[in-house]
Amino acid sequence: MYYRSMGEFPASRHVTFQTSEGRETFEEFIGEEGFSGTASHLYHVGIPANLVDSRTWDLGDVSLQPNASLRPRHFRLPELFPSGTEQGKDVVRHRRLVLGNADVRISYVVADTTSPLYSNGIGDEVIYIESGVADIESVFGTVRVGQGDNVVIPRVTIHRWVPVDVDTNGPLKAYCVEGTGHIEIPAKYLTRFGQFVEGAPLTERNMRGPVGPLLAPTDVADQDTEVYVKHGSGADVHGSVVVYDHHPFDVVGWDGYLYPYAFNYRDFSPVTGKILQPPPTYQILQGHNFVVCNFVPRMLEYGQGAITVPYYHSNVDADEVMFYYAGETAARKGTGIGNASVSLHPAAYTHGPTRQAYLNSVGADESKEMAFMVDTMNTLQIGEGALACDDDKYPWTWAGRRTPHPEG
Ligand SMILES: [Fe+2]
Repeated sequence: MYYRSMGEFPASRHVTFQTSEGRETFEEFIGEEGFSGTASHLYHVGIPANLVDSRTWDLGDVSLQPNASLRPRHFRLPELFPSGTEQGKDVVRHRRLVLGNADVRISYVVADTTSPLYSNGIGDEVIYIESGVADIESVFGTVRVGQGDNVVIPRVTIHRWVPVDVDTNGPLKAYCVEGTGHIEIPAKYLTRFGQFVEGAPLTERNMRGPVGPLLAPTDVADQDTEVYVKHGSGADVHGSVVVYDHHPFDVVGWDGYLYPYAFNYRDFSPVTGKILQPPPTYQILQGHNFVVCNFVPRMLEYGQGAITVPYYHSNVDADEVMFYYAGETAARKGTGIGNASVSLHPAAYTHGPTRQAYLNSVGADESKEMAFMVDTMNTLQIGEGALACDDDKYPWTWAGRRTPHPEG
């Protein structure tokens, strides 16, 4: 992201600094690529290293198994949280793992309760908000998020999820993408100094950063405070609950380029053309060995005879994962795909619309498809959440057969 600052901090880096109230502060550097990449400097009134305890956080079933025998998949995520108003569930501890590999892990949660403090030490997260409203409270301040937001939270950011007015807004439904390493705006959208270029689908004006500073109430500021931490490497994920001798929300000021931010799919400006534009047109984020696209409503291609649903494609280098969050899915109409469905179209399998959708798409004028896509460069494996809501008839919906071959 670009430079932001808030609160109090010294005119120079790496000097002692007292707040206007005379409190001593302690500088913390949070930086990527060692000391050479994007970074922010935070000024704490406590010592950010003051650990007093650590114990194991049981992450539940985070095992993964191959997508074998090879087939496209459809997962009905709402079945994982059947009541839709989950009592006592939070965004951090109750994610159900859908898909994953060493580069990225995708999960889903329906939450109505404030999460514990949390930090992902494996990589950045991008969370897509299907519905509900929440405050993401962090050491950088608060980001208010709601339906249609993509939320990027940098690695090691201590934060918690606070659902807002669940009675009115409903529970928070969140599609969680945890990267290994960093998730960033693709270089093709940025100048060499990091400004959005003309023609980029979003601009700085669409990016919402934290509001703050956010300081813990005095009655808990000096109390021992737990932080749930994910750590490890890739799919080798571990959980710990570490305890500090004070509340980590003690940052009186910070500046830098690294912080949580959100943008909404409604602000994404799609490029349309005489003939169909390829999916990279819709890319908005990239991680290590994966990309993120926002498919948003658009005027359709206007050329003579132009098909307006994706031609059949074999993404030989990518597994493709679509999360359909609203609208209509013309290409896969009639196949059982609904809201909060996930499809997995793996490499080594050619996919596209149904025959009728392909032919009927000519002359249509507006797409209402709304989907959040992750394409991975390495094969994805299947988690317990996906197995619990797998639509075993989906692989055969192109051919119109509703039952699998007897030999499976
Ligand atoms: Fe595709």
